Parts: sequence; structure tokens; C-alpha cells
Amino acid sequence: MGGFELRWVVRVTVVLMMVPKILGWGKEGHYVICKIAEEYLTEDALAAVKELLPDQAEGDLAAVCSWADEVKHHYPYYRWSSPLHYVDTPDFLCNYKYCRDCHDGHRHKDRCVTGAIYNYSMQLSQGYYDLNSEKYNLTEALMFLSHFVGDVHQPLHVGFTGDVGGNTIVVRWYRRKTNLHHVWDTMIIESALKTYYKSDLTLMIQALLRNITDEWSDDVPSWENCKKMVCPDPYASESVRLACKFAYRNATPGSTLGDDYFLSRLPVVEKRLAQSGIRLAEVLNRIFSKQPFAAQ
Ligand code: ADE
Ligand code: ZN
Ligand code: ZN
Repeated sequence: MGGFELRWVVRVTVVLMMVPKILGWGKEGHYVICKIAEEYLTEDALAAVKELLPDQAEGDLAAVCSWADEVKHHYPYYRWSSPLHYVDTPDFLCNYKYCRDCHDGHRHKDRCVTGAIYNYSMQLSQGYYDLNSEKYNLTEALMFLSHFVGDVHQPLHVGFTGDVGGNTIVVRWYRRKTNLHHVWDTMIIESALKTYYKSDLTLMIQALLRNITDEWSDDVPSWENCKKMVCPDPYASESVRLACKFAYRNATPGSTLGDDYFLSRLPVVEKRLAQSGIRLAEVLNRIFSKQPFAAQ
């Protein structure tokens, strides 16, 4: 199990960015996940989150859930964090193993999305009960954790090494040339918004919240059955299985993905967004519960 002895803690003032108006496990995906999580936070967790959020977020966790992508792209200082957004598995192996897979391109252990989730949840839980400690930047830890719990649920963030999680698989999304990774980060969600939700993200969020209490209500307890502080490993295992079964299937290089692919994959994307939101709330509720979590 990794993540507890990591030395890549960075103590800097948070580089804050204006929250962009146009959102894109693209911005829309992360926004939806954090909006769902907010609905399931306990009073204690909500108060702790609000205390840690930067002023620009105006008390809304969802406003900073894409921060980790923004700084990775736009600030050279944060380039070190790029490998923390994913964990790839050996080509065509539809399983995930922390010890084998969680490393960066230089084989530094623990530098992957599951390692990052262990690391930042540990920082938050330790730091929150020792508020005098200046050891960690808890605002940054909260923004990273909220983002990475989303990323680990995107099936192609646990894809194959050889195709960089689908990034090198060029496909058409209807008439537009793009790559398979981008289809799963952004295009499926964007097409769903246009087709079913009048391009209104709040309608999509409402529909997912309704599904959580109706259609998926029998499944929800099984999404929350983490018995530790945080459980990124089973989430990554689910993701790579979904990558094999749904993302890579019938999406060979040069293929055109249209209605058949969209209509059969959208339910997978919608359920992953909802699961991710519920599980983010679960981990934040646990970290910020008044009773410190028992040692693992
Ligand atoms: N870079 C390498 N692998 C990746 C993945 N699975 N997702 C996003 N970026 C990556
Ligand atoms: Zn990311
Ligand atoms: Zn991505």
C-alpha cells in the first residue's frame, strides 16, 4: 500500500485561477461529480470544506474541481503533478495492481492517481486534526483529492500504457476528428448535454441525483462499502474493466464512433459520474468526521 511516506509534498501558496465560465472528466465531468458530492456531505464535512476552500470558490467545492487540470496545463511549476491524474496498466491486461502499475514514467513509486488519492487523503486527515501544523497545504490537498477521485473513475484514466489511455487512438466522434481518451473525458458528456439536457449542466446533475435515489438506489450502498479511510484500488480495478469492456471495444484506430457507441456507453459514463460523487462525499465525510478515523 503506498502513499503514506511520500516526500513529494509541496508547500507553496496555492496558485489560484479564475474559474472559467465554459466548463470541459473534462471540466463538465469534474463539476458534475463535485456537485453530486456536495449533496451528500455531512454538516461537519461541509463546514470543513468551506473553511479550506480558497475565497474565489465562494464556498462551492465544484468551482475548484478542475483546478488540478488547469495548473497542470498552464503552470510549469505544477508539471510534476501530471502523472498523478492516471494509472496505466500493461497493454491488453484488464486488471490493475498498485505495486505493478502505480509509478510515473521514471518508475518513481506511488506517483499515479491511486497513490495521489492515498497521499492527499492522508494529508487532509492528519493535517485537519493538527491545525497548527504547517506541514501540509490543506487547501491544495482538498482540491487535488476532489479532482483525483473523479479521474480514477474515468475508465481510460486506468487504460493501457501503449496507447496512453486512449490518447493515441485517433477516432471520429460523429464527424469530428479526436482521440478515444477525449471521447471519454468530454465528448460523451457534451453530446449527452446537447441531446438530453438542453445543454444545461444543472439538468444533468438533477437527473443523476434522481437516479441515485431511484433507479440506482439498491446499488448505492455497494458503492460506499469502503472500510478504510479511502479505497482507490477497487475504483481503479473497476475502471480498467470498464475500459476493456466498453471504451476500447469497437473503437479501433481510425473508426467512426456514432449513435451505437454513444447510446451504449452513455449509461456507463453517467453511472461513473454518480459513483464518483458519492464516493468523494464518503471520503470527505470520513476525513472530516468529529471522531478521528481509527488507524487502518
Ligand atoms: N497519460 C498517460 N496515460 C494517461 C491516461 N491514462 N490518462 C491521461 N493521461 C495519460
Ligand atoms: Zn485530471
Ligand atoms: Zn483525461
